[in-house]
Amino acid sequence: MKALEQRIQEDGRVIEPDILKVDSFLNHQIDPVLMQEMGKEFARLFANQGVTKILTVEASGIAPAVMAGLALDVPVVFARKSKSRILSDDAFTADVYSFTKQTSNAIRIDKRFLSADDHVLLIDDFLANGQALLGLKEIADQAGATIVGAGIVIEKSFQPGRQNAIDAGLENIHSLARIAVFEDGQVKFVNEEA
Ligand code: G4P
Repeated sequence: MKALEQRIQEDGRVIEPDILKVDSFLNHQIDPVLMQEMGKEFARLFANQGVTKILTVEASGIAPAVMAGLALDVPVVFARKSKSRILSDDAFTADVYSFTKQTSNAIRIDKRFLSADDHVLLIDDFLANGQALLGLKEIADQAGATIVGAGIVIEKSFQPGRQNAIDAGLENIHSLARIAVFEDGQVKFVNEEA
């Protein structure tokens, strides 16, 4: 998606050899216009595939997921990382290891919000090692739901996330921007999604 690639070039900052900071428009301060365009693009990519629900993980997945849900006219459910006092014990859960933060989090979705009748689209902001996608897949599998595919805002193609997701049986993975490499602090893209 050209507008996203341009924004990454303009406002993204490579802060470590493999980390891109995009907090001025994606995951801290949010540009709602760009976010809405991304939601429409996800809706275009997953149109006519019978999506009944979108699943994501708090926190940074929520904004793109909501915009995709708006465009596809389906509800959005986000997995919670902390066990809230108001979250019932009747939940689907999976463990997600974060390589970036080197911590493991249990993620949970209340059983009332996911069922075997659902055809779910998984959405997340980054695809790096794929742990978040794998956790969401595990939860969808526990519910007996059908996974239609996965929509990612920024994929770092030099990391194993896509392959890990494919190895786990996920299909139909679309990323709006695919980064091939960071070169001297510059972002090089693979190509644009058709
Ligand atoms: P994964 O996202 O594919 O599971 O891989 P990984 O375990 O490496 O990612 C852990 C966390 O770091 C995720 O956020 C992910 O979105 C974020 N992350 C990975 N690579 C980058 C990057 O290059 N830039 C930025 N800004 N974030 C990156 P999280 O733990 O789910 O946190 P949250 O922000 O959603 O709360």
